[in-house]
Amino acid sequence: MECVETINEGECLLVKGPANIEVKNGRVMVLGGTFGSEERIVIPRGKAVSLRACTSTTLKIASGYVERIKEDVPPQWRVAVEELDKVEKPAVVPIIGGIDTGKTTFTTFLGNMVLERGLKVAIVDADVGQSDIGPPCSVAMGVLNHPVIDMSKVELGDAYFVGSTTPSAYPHRMIAGVKIMVEKALMLRSDVVLVDTPGWISGFRARDLNITLLHILQPSMIIALQEKDEAEGILRVFSSSNIRIIRLPALASCKRDREIRKFLREIAYRRHLRGGVNVTLNLESISLAYTTLFNGNRLSADDEKKVSAILGVNPVYAESSFDTLTLILPSEKDVSQEAVEALKQLFKGKEMHLLREKTFENLLVALLGERNRYLGIGILKKIDYTTKEITLYTPVPPNKILTILFGSVKVMEDGVEIGPVRSKH
Ligand SMILES: Nc1ncnc2c1ncn2[C@@H]1O[C@H](COP(=O)(O)OP(=O)(O)OP(=O)(O)O)[C@@H](O)[C@H]1O
Ligand SMILES: [Mg+2]
Repeated sequence: MECVETINEGECLLVKGPANIEVKNGRVMVLGGTFGSEERIVIPRGKAVSLRACTSTTLKIASGYVERIKEDVPPQWRVAVEELDKVEKPAVVPIIGGIDTGKTTFTTFLGNMVLERGLKVAIVDADVGQSDIGPPCSVAMGVLNHPVIDMSKVELGDAYFVGSTTPSAYPHRMIAGVKIMVEKALMLRSDVVLVDTPGWISGFRARDLNITLLHILQPSMIIALQEKDEAEGILRVFSSSNIRIIRLPALASCKRDREIRKFLREIAYRRHLRGGVNVTLNLESISLAYTTLFNGNRLSADDEKKVSAILGVNPVYAESSFDTLTLILPSEKDVSQEAVEALKQLFKGKEMHLLREKTFENLLVALLGERNRYLGIGILKKIDYTTKEITLYTPVPPNKILTILFGSVKVMEDGVEIGPVRSKH
């Protein structure tokens, strides 16, 4: 549905995506950035944008949903900008809050406002499930070079691969990723580093992660977006510190369901896989991490025979290191508990990893180059256990790849997310 809306100075609209807005004449402000005549604003499905007319403005809007609203952002959000003005620079500012409270919208707004003041702003995107700057499953950073209305328009500066879309899966990698990305932003001489966190704040483990994150960041200021008091369990820990705590109301939000979240992730996977081709790499000169595969030596023919007898089938591949036994089994073969016990007896003291050939098919991986620098993502297509060759679909130049990090999610070349991998690998 296409409509023409004329709004007077100070009036606000909420437009839900998918939508395409064309400014016919006049000027609007969107999250601190301005759009004038002939400029367009594209909003994908699952996202929404609120705008305020700077002068009398006519917009041509192609969208199913346009609503007149009183304020483009909650008025208290502007107070946070003034508070940040008072804080000594460089300032690291985490934005915490539950899912769909408006953390990313607020981070965008604050980033644009700080940029307008002539300061250098970096964004650390720690939302591994709804990543905007980097690919899903990673913590990423980028410098804000111009005002944006969609965080995915921030150019990727660096990323740290966590490997899962849920922060609870690998909290230690989350912490490392955020710290490394913030340090990178500070090294680039950013005046303000905004950290957009995942919405996982409820429950003991979630609070634990958030508190540790705040301990390690030692921020100048913490901003919490709350519907009620859901972040207080985290904020309480910092109430006696000299950290400035700003509590803001959440957006009267448009909740996104699992399907929309998956859809938005798929756009992000696709963007970071664009230009991908199949490349085959020899693993003699490349190291693997976050997997036990190819960390030891192939089992002797004698041991392999014993394993086959216990399992009733030949493993596709079997190797042991000083502390692990890794068996790759044909995907269709079931393994009884007795067989597992017998294997444990035979390889006493070793951690056992029983995997299926299919476990690795379409696994999301990250690729690192010299000095463990993030190069990009890929999809694992094939492993040749005899020649120790691995085939990946990736846009990363193969001659740069020195390390492959295994993720825990399966993705297709076109970005479609198949789902998480359950077994450890
Ligand atoms: N002014 C507004 N009023 C209401 N909803 C808005 C407004 N601006 C944006 N939204 C929508 O509100 C929802 C939540 O916003 P946002 O993505 O910023 O939240 P979030 O806390 O970062 O979510 P997540 O937990 O997924 O990271 C989104 O669908 C967003 O498009
Ligand atoms: Mg977000």
